[in-house]
Amino acid sequence: MQKHTLLYLLVIFISASCNTEIDNTTEERSIERTELSMDSKIFLGNRLFSEKTCITCHSVDRKKVGPSVVDIMQIYTEKNADIVSFLRGHSEPIVDTTPSEVAIMQANIDGFLKEITDEELDAIATYMMHVTKK
Ligand code: HEC
Repeated sequence: MQKHTLLYLLVIFISASCNTEIDNTTEERSIERTELSMDSKIFLGNRLFSEKTCITCHSVDRKKVGPSVVDIMQIYTEKNADIVSFLRGHSEPIVDTTPSEVAIMQANIDGFLKEITDEELDAIATYMMHVTKK
């Protein structure tokens, strides 16, 4: 009788541990399929901001060739405007509308920004949005 109980418990234990293994793998697979987390998007956006040379003209908090990221974001937040749309060439500049300045940024939009993917633009925009919140 005792032997049987032991065997019975062993069977339960083994099938329980098998089930957990199956659960774990399905969970891992669904994590792989989900979108980038907010943190990794900001991290990627930060890297792209340097790699795509934005940083050469835009520093975080002081004017360089172009307005600072903080200044840009202040105006974009106030006006509830869409950076991705601007960078895709779908909306007009609202930060600095001096024609000679606009022409500098417009050259980027017509140039290397045409090659950038939607995911990369989304990451850059997310990074810029979060710079101001520090
Ligand atoms: C060669 C210099 C230069 C580079 C490189 C550059 N910018 Fe700019 N950017 C400017 C200048 C100058 C302005 C001001 C004119 C304007 O506001 O359109 C500007 C303006 C902007 C604005 C505000 C537009 C508005 O509504 O007025 C955004 C957003 C922006 N840049 C994002 C970027 C991003 C993102 C990158 C990199 C992918 C980048 N810029 C690369 C010079 C540059």
